[in-house]
Amino acid sequence: MPFSRPACQEPDCVFVPIALVEDLPPGERLFVHIDEWDVVLFNLDGQIFALEDRCTHAGRPIGEGEIEDGVLTCPYHGSRFDVRTGAVVAPPATEPLLAFPVRVVDGLIALGLPAF
Ligand code: FES
Repeated sequence: MPFSRPACQEPDCVFVPIALVEDLPPGERLFVHIDEWDVVLFNLDGQIFALEDRCTHAGRPIGEGEIEDGVLTCPYHGSRFDVRTGAVVAPPATEPLLAFPVRVVDGLIALGLPAF
């Protein structure tokens, strides 16, 4: 089972600004749609992480799930994932969530996307 599944590998990522840092205070989450992806961003204690809003178990949206100690629980069947990496923490999912590299520059949050 792969530990993580990045949307792109640096340096082959294109970073696209998608939100202002001030729109995502610590403890909050933000939903965006970019290209073909629904993405949920989390601010965990000042660090920002971005995951595809699609559970790898049955493809349902996962972004509204509860977070405890940096672990996101899918509201449908209870799979658990590490918010920082998308790694599976508990089944039934076996594949990591798609994780987008994040950069914060000049008050903007930018997502790393594959350079097609
Ligand atoms: S859809 Fe997420 S655990 Fe089933």
